[in-house]
Amino acid sequence: MKILSVDTGIKQYPIYIDSSFDALVSAFEKAGISGRRVCIVTDTNVAPLYANKVKELLSDICSNISICVFSAGENSKNLSTISEFYKFFIEHHLDRRSVLVALGGGVVGDMCGFAAATYMRGIPFVQIPTTLLSQVDSSVGGKTGVDFMGNKNMVGAFYQPELVFINTDTLNTLPYREVAAGLAESVKHGYIQDTDYLRFFLDNRDAVKELDPDAIAQVVYGSCKIKANVVSQDEKETGLREILNFGHTFGHAIETLSDFNMLHGECVAVGMVAALYLSMKRGAVSESDVEQAKELLKYFGLPVAVENFSAEDIYAQMFNDKKTKNGVINITALRSMGNAYTEKGCSEREIKDAIGYILKI
Ligand SMILES: NC(=O)c1ccc[n+]([C@@H]2O[C@H](COP(=O)([O-])OP(=O)(O)OC[C@H]3O[C@@H](n4cnc5c(N)ncnc54)[C@H](O)[C@@H]3O)[C@@H](O)[C@H]2O)c1
Ligand SMILES: [Zn+2]
Repeated sequence: MKILSVDTGIKQYPIYIDSSFDALVSAFEKAGISGRRVCIVTDTNVAPLYANKVKELLSDICSNISICVFSAGENSKNLSTISEFYKFFIEHHLDRRSVLVALGGGVVGDMCGFAAATYMRGIPFVQIPTTLLSQVDSSVGGKTGVDFMGNKNMVGAFYQPELVFINTDTLNTLPYREVAAGLAESVKHGYIQDTDYLRFFLDNRDAVKELDPDAIAQVVYGSCKIKANVVSQDEKETGLREILNFGHTFGHAIETLSDFNMLHGECVAVGMVAALYLSMKRGAVSESDVEQAKELLKYFGLPVAVENFSAEDIYAQMFNDKKTKNGVINITALRSMGNAYTEKGCSEREIKDAIGYILKI
């Protein structure tokens, strides 16, 4: 087992990375969670796989454990599901000392975290992420929230968990398309901060793709370390944290235009290719770096181009991104491999040129 720490200055919490749930109870005990009322929040896919196991383990230290299940998928990520949660919590007598446990992917984590941030003005919660995307990205950093009127994550709060417990063995039941979507975010971490980590993917692509336990443990550890480090320095995204948006300004636009039929990680993969191309045009990385990225992403089964949208559509959609400030599109680009920054002054021509590249590969 490996343990990392997130320290936002206001709150410090551990991330446990293991290949089983064996150490779950001791992790809860170390965080001071025993003898509390617990509610496991999960979705209809994860509940039959892991909810009873987690409940059974926690019943050693907590006497009153309920399971709140909602219909799996992004379509549930809204305020009416949150209302259902509040009703369930009240019916099950959850109070300020109670603990919510988010058991599932990013949708579960974001919603359970938001419910924890708001129910009775905030109660503690724990993240037990079960998708690769949530293990390498969304469970760390304290961003919580729901979609509103078709806008992704429009309503939410920064709210940190008491602990994150990652059991990489849960990935064995995850469909490969979802695994690949998580790999896109992990590869992103290499590009923005750590060329050794990126090299690991290039050298161990087979083992990673086959979910070899050692390789996956290294992927999850490597990504959590980078994300924990960035978030510890900039909890609320006033500066450094923006580099985590590498590939995302292009990616979010594509995600919206696809009506969310493409997975977030798939859109980030295409978006990264555009951001790398833009960086290459600025002389920051080489043409072979861009080619290598495309080859790696394709190997993992991720898209590196899109066909169904025009450059105009994508560009217009980028303006609607909630991170577009004062009509200026912010693009996270590379200064060099493993070194990202956010550029506030990209010209329309430069952005459209990068979009053109991902339309015609
Ligand atoms: N908070 C953040 O910082 C942050 C960062 C990135 C993404 N997100 C959010 O995360 C969400 C996407 O997360 P996701 O990709 O994990 O999606 P998800 O939670 O919808 O999970 C994907 C699918 O896998 C199923 N599943 C989960 N674990 C499983 C397992 N072990 N075995 C079998 N099936 C399993 C789920 O039921 C679902 O059908 C989006 O809503 C996005 O906005 C948040
Ligand atoms: Zn992302």
